[in-house]
Amino acid sequence: MLILGIETSCDETAAAVVDGERNIRADIVLSQTELHTPHGGIVPEIAARAHLEHLDHLIGRALKEAGVSFADLSAVAATGGPGLIGGVIVGVMTGKAIAFARNLPFLAINHLEGHALSARLSHDVEFPYLLLLVSGGHCQLLIVEGVGRYMRLGTTIDDAAGEAFDKTAKLLGLGYPGGPAIERAAKSGDPARFAFPRPLKGRPGCNFSFAGLKTAVRQQVEATLEEEGAPLSPQTVSDLAASFQEAVADSLVDRTRRAIDIFRERYQLGRALVVAGGVAANTRLRQRLSDLADSEGMRLVAPPQRLCTDNAAMIAWAGIERLRLGLTDGLDFSPRPRWPLDPNAPKVIGAGVKA
Ligand code: KG4
Ligand code: ZN
Repeated sequence: MLILGIETSCDETAAAVVDGERNIRADIVLSQTELHTPHGGIVPEIAARAHLEHLDHLIGRALKEAGVSFADLSAVAATGGPGLIGGVIVGVMTGKAIAFARNLPFLAINHLEGHALSARLSHDVEFPYLLLLVSGGHCQLLIVEGVGRYMRLGTTIDDAAGEAFDKTAKLLGLGYPGGPAIERAAKSGDPARFAFPRPLKGRPGCNFSFAGLKTAVRQQVEATLEEEGAPLSPQTVSDLAASFQEAVADSLVDRTRRAIDIFRERYQLGRALVVAGGVAANTRLRQRLSDLADSEGMRLVAPPQRLCTDNAAMIAWAGIERLRLGLTDGLDFSPRPRWPLDPNAPKVIGAGVKA
């Protein structure tokens, strides 16, 4: 089995070739960061145009690196959503065109399922497992029962964890994308200097909230500027970054501990705690989750950083998992800007109110 994966749902144009033995034969990611940096965030129209400009070429390179041609492929998998719709359309149309021209099965992959199953590409992980999915657009705790079978235990009632990193980095003048910048600055910072709130810590349920934390950082910046004068010293910026990072990690760990209890109640077998998504690249968070897993008798599985941030290898892999089960899609598939992994999960409409 050999699958071409295509990822265009956000600001990375990516193509990969993965085989059924879990070998990543090619994995190319072209980041658009430079295009978006001057705007301080992702501009959807710029992203879509850049995907269109580069995707064909990238697919050609991926096939060449893998040493294969279209004729060797078993199927084509492209991210079908959720994401910035202009970019998703580019990837889906390209995938469909290849599938049609080569008479190959087409698979529209839920980007979140790509993240959710990525641990099974890098590690031996059996279903069911508990998943903490933390990215720029999502922050969820899910039980992964099988391919296409997800039970959401919690989600964010305001910002996603990655979004909080990005907004806080912007506030601290650390640039975009914020996660890696905060992590770098935090290395030489004191996580105990500023006592930021741990939103929802100790509260029932597994939902997340980060908006209040972001506000607390902004207020602290204003207060410190008043005390110390502008600009903030590099040490203060580092201390703010470290204190913020610790608050996020604390909050994620607290919510995950609750999810472990629920997971255990339902399943006696599963022992894996998987962390995936861009924020899972954070070393401090991995350390904290690893300590949590140890204390709870669980095994922390974190895919390598390259598989955590957006990439097409995870899309190709989700394609392999779905193709094995015969879960292919028709060429009439419509790209989806929204596509929840667990359609039965209660809707969260701010401030923890469920509808
Ligand atoms: O999964 P991803 O690549 O794209 C989405 O699907 O959202 O996640 C991107 C997010 C960004 O918000 C970025 O700031 C965050 O992941 N991120 C990190 C780190 N690396 C990336 N956050 C914290 N620490 C990191 N090292
Ligand atoms: Zn992602």
